[in-house]
Amino acid sequence: MIKACVVGWPITHSRSPMIHGYWLKTLGIDGSYEKLAVKPEDAFAFFQGLPGSGLTGCNVTVPLKEIAFEAADEKDSSAVAVGAANTIWIENGKILAANTDTYGFMTHLSATAPNWLDVDKPVLILGAGGAARAIAFGFLEAGIEQLMISNRTKSRAEKLGEHFSKYRNKIRIVDWDNRSSAAAKAGVIVNTTTIGMRNEGSLDLDFSQVDSTTVVADIVYVPLETQLLKDARQRGLKTVDGLGMLLHQAVPGFEKWFGRRPDVTPELRALIVGDLEAAG
Ligand SMILES: NC(=O)c1ccc[n+]([C@@H]2O[C@H](COP(=O)([O-])OP(=O)(O)OC[C@H]3O[C@@H](n4cnc5c(N)ncnc54)[C@H](OP(=O)(O)O)[C@@H]3O)[C@@H](O)[C@H]2O)c1
Repeated sequence: MIKACVVGWPITHSRSPMIHGYWLKTLGIDGSYEKLAVKPEDAFAFFQGLPGSGLTGCNVTVPLKEIAFEAADEKDSSAVAVGAANTIWIENGKILAANTDTYGFMTHLSATAPNWLDVDKPVLILGAGGAARAIAFGFLEAGIEQLMISNRTKSRAEKLGEHFSKYRNKIRIVDWDNRSSAAAKAGVIVNTTTIGMRNEGSLDLDFSQVDSTTVVADIVYVPLETQLLKDARQRGLKTVDGLGMLLHQAVPGFEKWFGRRPDVTPELRALIVGDLEAAG
């Protein structure tokens, strides 16, 4: 039996076992995918001990993603861009690491709003944390002309901009107080802050000047339709929710561990939506 897991500290709220369990079942694969709580102080040794442990790999969640990155022998370009890994697998005794948040976000965006790149306007990212890094990398690699980054703590946005020095000419840092005027110029707006999670806080984004072709994405997925997405939908804008990113980011790991590329199906989505609703 092939075994994989998700590690974090704590790990109770992870929905990864439900996603991978669905694929194992529907694809008829003899495999298992469990939750494993690993303390931060034990994490480096855990990752280094993966070859020969009986596990073929794991997903990694907070606060262990940076430790997983450090412990890996080889890292993909997104993991290097973000400085953190959420997917680990073993190949020829080596620990390989990827950050699949970039893939997850960009795949879901393209599936939901296929023409987003045709809108020849800047992309606005709200937030400058780990998820913002993964998403900024995705947009820059996709060849956008301009990326605006706005974060409550401006120095963190500036640091993110400096991190992508290769794209220096494309990145503009916007004061948090000016986020609504930046939104009015944007073709795509993405919330990567924690605002809106469980309906807490408000982005206070003024949609009145936002163009009708603008796509609005939120990576928060509890609730599924955040206030930001609700406001955007009521304004008639195309919206992209955070659940699709969560589902798509799981695909590359499953393929590495279990040897089959799974599909993100409406049935899988409905399963997770049901669980989110049950959890309230
Ligand atoms: N859908 C998915 O698959 C997926 C994947 C990854 C993450 N996420 C979600 O994305 C969110 C961000 O994750 P992360 O790992 O990037 O977190 P993080 O590194 O902790 O960054 C948090 C971000 O939120 C901002 N923020 C927090 N409270 C704020 C407030 N009251 N006002 C304004 N800004 C505020 C922070 O700004 P400061 O720098 O000023 O503190 C920072 O930019 C989380 O809700 C996470 O669950 C979803």
